[in-house]
Amino acid sequence: MALAQPREDQTGGFPSGFKVLPAALDEGAQAALLADVLAVLEAAPAYQPRMPKSGHPLSVTMTNCGPLGWVTDQAGGYRYQAQHPESGRPWPPMPARLLELWHRHGGYADPPEACLVNLYRAGAKMGLHIDQDEEAADAPVVSVSLGDTALFRIGGAQRRDPTRSLKLHSGALVVLGGAARHCYHGVDRIYPGSSALLPQDRLTGVRRINLTLRRVSRG
Ligand code: SIN
Ligand code: FE2
Repeated sequence: MALAQPREDQTGGFPSGFKVLPAALDEGAQAALLADVLAVLEAAPAYQPRMPKSGHPLSVTMTNCGPLGWVTDQAGGYRYQAQHPESGRPWPPMPARLLELWHRHGGYADPPEACLVNLYRAGAKMGLHIDQDEEAADAPVVSVSLGDTALFRIGGAQRRDPTRSLKLHSGALVVLGGAARHCYHGVDRIYPGSSALLPQDRLTGVRRINLTLRRVSRG
């Protein structure tokens, strides 16, 4: 039997299982979540991730919360691990607010195990990729955006497939479920100064934060 291929949704042109709630978090909810993220950053400072083999730095910096964190470095490549790669300490717990968003929007019984925190400065972007380091390939990825608007792009299961773009503003929530879970996606750019949410005295130069919730192991 042929494997299911991501299908284009008839109306929107986005892959099936792709859901965006452009304003899922109001200003109060964004501020509350930001406070949680600042506490995570205190406990687990952002580090500079690097591409496997080449050691080329990614343009974002990263940290995680939850029992597992997604990390990448020159020697070890892409992986999940329970400790911060620099401090060796366990990641801080996943804030209750994120668990609640996962259960409300993710439609998946088991809790997320990792929340990857991507910090975008002016000029940062994220090349087209598929999230595929998780054993629980049936679980959705739920992501939340805070701060400056990003130009997000999603295509199909093949890198050459046509893509669609949309802007993600502060408070937007995206679900990559179903076929969309296995589609290429990335961030082409951010729009520096489009949001005043992120406190520059605490987050120098960081213009956008994306939180990506993942279930890693099979339940
Ligand atoms: C990602 O795919 O890892 C990040 C997406 C985003 O920053 O919106
Ligand atoms: Fe991703």
